Amino acid sequence: MADNTKSKSTSKSTSKTWDASRIPDLSGRTAVVTGANSGIGLTAAAALARAGAHVVLAVRDLERGRVAAATVTGSTEVRRLDLADLSSVREFADAWQGRPVDLLINNAGVMMLPEQRTADGFEMQFGTNHLGHFALTNLLLPYVTDRVVTLASGAHRLFDARIRFEDLDFTSGYNPNRAYAQSKLANLLFTLELQRRLAQAGSPVRALAAHPGYAATNLQSHAGNPVARGFMKIGNRFLAQDDKAGALPTLYAATQDLPGASYVGPDGRGEMRGGPTLVGRSAAASDPDVARRLWTVSEELTGVSWPLGAGERVAAQR
Ligand SMILES: NC(=O)c1ccc[n+]([C@@H]2O[C@H](COP(=O)([O-])OP(=O)(O)OC[C@H]3O[C@@H](n4cnc5c(N)ncnc54)[C@H](OP(=O)(O)O)[C@@H]3O)[C@@H](O)[C@H]2O)c1
Repeated sequence: MADNTKSKSTSKSTSKTWDASRIPDLSGRTAVVTGANSGIGLTAAAALARAGAHVVLAVRDLERGRVAAATVTGSTEVRRLDLADLSSVREFADAWQGRPVDLLINNAGVMMLPEQRTADGFEMQFGTNHLGHFALTNLLLPYVTDRVVTLASGAHRLFDARIRFEDLDFTSGYNPNRAYAQSKLANLLFTLELQRRLAQAGSPVRALAAHPGYAATNLQSHAGNPVARGFMKIGNRFLAQDDKAGALPTLYAATQDLPGASYVGPDGRGEMRGGPTLVGRSAAASDPDVARRLWTVSEELTGVSWPLGAGERVAAQR
């Protein structure tokens, strides 16, 4: 398995001209996109459906999901998934009934919220962005045939980003920025360890990560701090790219022939905007020991464990 965890991309893998029109024919394939009722998730879902995939919009509000699906041309289905409630994640997986999932796009996310807990008592950003997707991926993995793409962020390098094993839920002093950074660092470490496990199990499935740079979506509107929200409003207007450009790294990671554990982001200055390319990650996001420890802790917290034995292939039948 090739590994790009520490290297910057070469010009060969950069594709300034790559856009959604270059997605290959996805007829007969199924994609599950979490948080597909708005922003990057909806844009990515629409592009995958346009390319012929059957797209499952996995959303926490069915009505808003249906409204979103009505804007998409192609084959879609709306299913309820609340990543902040592990019983909802289990219900989603139980109802799946063994159909193949060619692409699982772990897109949903919340950012810099005021202190809140998930239904299971976890800090909301870690619980939603990481633990919910961790559980979902492991429960669906026996049916995944091609790849798992997880949305991370440039914030995995910011705000003193580290996995606070001693206090994952920030019980001894909540900081919304640090909690977001921890959750996005966790998304990258999850991808690293998932790819290692897939390779060890002899699975053809690949785990990749992507980040959109800075894209104007609903994400920024939930920030608890009004000053931060004000800055982000201005940023959305003058700095951010739109959600179509923001979805390109996701789509590139989902459909191009890239090595497992690749991380895709925009190729512009500071990875804020631009065409999709392979990008680097922080040293903290490349640490295999921390990735393994996070995996073990996530198994304990969610009660969901690795589903594939050594040499086991996907169970899904076409
Ligand atoms: N926009 C950026 O500049 C940026 C930068 C770096 C990384 N990202 C990442 O990109 C991803 C997509 O974000 P976005 O910018 O497209 O923001 P967005 O428009 O706010 O979309 C986030 C989606 O996640 C869903 N979601 C939130 N909590 C959920 C839960 N408990 N269960 C299920 N779905 C839930 C939201 O559903 P509701 O509509 O019901 O809230 C929404 O559909 C996130 O992972 C984010 O961290 C974005």
